[in-house]
Amino acid sequence: MERTFAIIKPDAFAAGNAGKILSRIYEEGFKVVGLKKLYLSRIEAEGFYYVHKSRPFFGELTEFMSSGPCVVMVLEADGAIKKWRDLMGATNPADAPEGSLRRQFGTSVGENATHGSDAPETAAFEMGYFFSGLELL
Ligand code: RTP
Ligand code: MG
Repeated sequence: MERTFAIIKPDAFAAGNAGKILSRIYEEGFKVVGLKKLYLSRIEAEGFYYVHKSRPFFGELTEFMSSGPCVVMVLEADGAIKKWRDLMGATNPADAPEGSLRRQFGTSVGENATHGSDAPETAAFEMGYFFSGLELL
């Protein structure tokens, strides 16, 4: 079993899509090991996305991620990291396959409804950024 870190981003939360996304997560066979609603500060969003700090979209990204509440989760499944990224689809919702979460709920490359860790090392960092060990029993 593998764990990954996921976010229902502020666009999807504000649009009332958190419940639908969570239903899909269960239907696809993930175990929800950790879950909480947060309203990130700009500083907290910058810390989370620090790997992107020199990218041209960093300002836009961290402003968006701190623009409203989101839901952060730890998901468990066989091959959870790839399984969750496959369920999300491509970064740009227009390129994401029919039936994927970003295709269904995303509206632009920036406001793309969900986040998922891209590798075991980033999953470990991201889970630890938001959850203590006790919250993931
Ligand atoms: P994420 O980290 O959120 O799961 O998304 P990802 O791996 O598919 O994409 P990544 O390259 O890590 O980009 C992180 C987030 O930054 C925003 N973005 N905006 N305006 C742009 O060109 C642009 N490119 C990326 C997206 O919200 C993306 O999810
Ligand atoms: Mg990424």
